[in-house]
Amino acid sequence: MRGGNVDLVVDLGAKSYPIEFCDIGDVGNRLLKRVSSRKIMIVTDENVKGHYLESARRSMEAAGYMVAYSVIPAGEESKTMEMAKKLLQDALSYGLDRSSCIVALGGGVVGDIAGFVASAYMRGIDFIQIPTTLLAQVDSSVGGKVAVNLPEAKNIVGAFHQPRAVFIDVKALRTLPQRELKTGLAEVIKYGIIWDDEFFKWLDLNMEKLLSLDMDVLKHAVRRSCEIKAQVVSQDETEHGLRAVLNFGHTLGHALEALTGYKKYTHGEAVAVGMVYASKIALRRGMISEGFFNSIVSLIERAGLPTVFDPFPFEDVLNKLTSDKKAYDGKIVFALVDENRKFFRLEINPCEIESVLYN
Ligand SMILES: NC(=O)c1ccc[n+]([C@@H]2O[C@H](COP(=O)([O-])OP(=O)(O)OC[C@H]3O[C@@H](n4cnc5c(N)ncnc54)[C@H](O)[C@@H]3O)[C@@H](O)[C@H]2O)c1
Ligand SMILES: [Zn+2]
Repeated sequence: MRGGNVDLVVDLGAKSYPIEFCDIGDVGNRLLKRVSSRKIMIVTDENVKGHYLESARRSMEAAGYMVAYSVIPAGEESKTMEMAKKLLQDALSYGLDRSSCIVALGGGVVGDIAGFVASAYMRGIDFIQIPTTLLAQVDSSVGGKVAVNLPEAKNIVGAFHQPRAVFIDVKALRTLPQRELKTGLAEVIKYGIIWDDEFFKWLDLNMEKLLSLDMDVLKHAVRRSCEIKAQVVSQDETEHGLRAVLNFGHTLGHALEALTGYKKYTHGEAVAVGMVYASKIALRRGMISEGFFNSIVSLIERAGLPTVFDPFPFEDVLNKLTSDKKAYDGKIVFALVDENRKFFRLEINPCEIESVLYN
């Protein structure tokens, strides 16, 4: 198995940071190399608190830190300006100063809002990611996109604010609900499709082990996913080009999430469906073979993820596609790859999308 125990680096010049694989109970000493101030505020959610807050806190205190914490209700509903304001007020009342540090302990919701608060508090303070969902370990904790939602739009208020380090404990995935594991697997599969054929084939061989939480296999999947994300982000931090390849499957995925009121599908489930139809566009354009297309659909199915777009009227679909924040001047742009993993950012006209969705 590739990778060994060598940690990864997101290479961004002065803003570079490591992705380290370790126990949550060991993060304290590792922080000493990254954070000079003695004061830390951990942000976590109600579910993660019961599992991991104590061991994270104890290890930080043992390393000499003064640790306060704030707990938000679990779920996307917490990713609001109101909650960010409350966390900013908590930071102030705990006496955090410009050299203090915020630690995000949880899934993507906690990571996004804690990072957003860190980006804004006193014009930006340090923060650390300790992701505890598969989605956060392979995607949201790496790359520095932080945000909260408005009622009208997701992730619409935010910043690029890179963490000082990402500490990943793959064992934390043992307590994750199976549905959340699968939602993260959608992003893992995405890396195989957009970047690395060897990894794609490896996932095909190891899908059952991933689903049964084989720790060695999971660790390799997380490490390779982080490696790919780090490579992409290092080349294009603020998404002027290559980083958009990570949106593969997300154009239709976001539309499906919005059409179903963010209730029926998790993000990964919607992205899984989006990846199938993006691949279908690539197939029809002759960019990928039928064999590759079929293996994409089969891998997504074997991960227990959906593959079929709900039969919404096309007018509604189109409406969501053109109002997506990644649409440009009303144009619908897809991130597509060919079988050699060459990336294309293509404007796709509505007729082609309609035909792919319904025929
Ligand atoms: N910043 C980025 O680049 C980026 C990328 C992708 C997604 N996101 C954001 O990430 C968010 C979704 O993240 P998510 O899928 O991690 O959801 P989440 O943070 O809501 O976590 C999912 C659920 O799992 C629980 N949980 C977390 N870790 C657990 C553990 N180890 N054991 C048991 N339960 C646990 C949480 O309490 C929650 O109920 C969205 O808001 C999305 O916009 C951001
Ligand atoms: Zn995603």
